[in-house]
Amino acid sequence: MTGRSVDEAGGERLQKVLARVGFGSRRACEELIADGRVTVNGEVAQLGRRVDIAQDRVEVDTVPVGVMPGLVYYLLNKPAGVVTTASDPDGRPTVVELVPSVPRVFPVGRLDVATEGLLVLTNDGELAQAVAHPSHGVEKEYLAELRGNPSPAGIRSLREGVMLEDGLTSPAKVSVVSPGVIRITIHEGRNRQVRRMCEAIGHPVVRLVRTRIGPLSDRSLRPGSFRPLEAAEVLALARAARAHTPSARGGRRAK
Ligand code: URA
Repeated sequence: MTGRSVDEAGGERLQKVLARVGFGSRRACEELIADGRVTVNGEVAQLGRRVDIAQDRVEVDTVPVGVMPGLVYYLLNKPAGVVTTASDPDGRPTVVELVPSVPRVFPVGRLDVATEGLLVLTNDGELAQAVAHPSHGVEKEYLAELRGNPSPAGIRSLREGVMLEDGLTSPAKVSVVSPGVIRITIHEGRNRQVRRMCEAIGHPVVRLVRTRIGPLSDRSLRPGSFRPLEAAEVLALARAARAHTPSARGGRRAK
């Protein structure tokens, strides 16, 4: 047992559940409910509503809330040399060894072994799939140190799309940080995409660091360390993934 008070009326007070998973104080959570932003099983919740977290589907602003006990979300700053996999046949260190082993989590998408920076790990398969799916277009931003200094024409190619062996890349957002260092934002997530794009313009990547995943960034997270995501961050990430689903673009909300 978890020690939570589940009274005879059934379930726990909704504001208490929301507060526990990180939506702020109970007072703040009552306001969320009063503002009509919280639904339970598809119906706008009223103040005083009780929920059974094992059965009820709770959503804030239409995004499911991770109230199920056992769902965890970590933001890791992956160092170079660590493999984005659950187990490596060559015995190299893996990202899952850098976070708690229970409950078991898996990486959302992947970073090359030499790439550093932000990676989400979770046991929430639905969110993982939504975020990693290329068509959902969650932006990923990288700082790339290049060999040599690309010309304005090279930067323009990155922005407009580069022909790779698996096709033309979508337009990227690119800014020059300093000579030979660019900030590049893509949303496709093809294999080794940034490295291949930079190679294609004649300036291979010397160092690559992912600095943002959709709404998530954290400049104070040291390489090799992780922290749990706040509920509001999970919500923002899910919202970013949903905002880019084809049905949402067409005006309908994705289920
Ligand atoms: N693009 C790459 O080339 N490598 C990564 O690890 C991520 C994006």
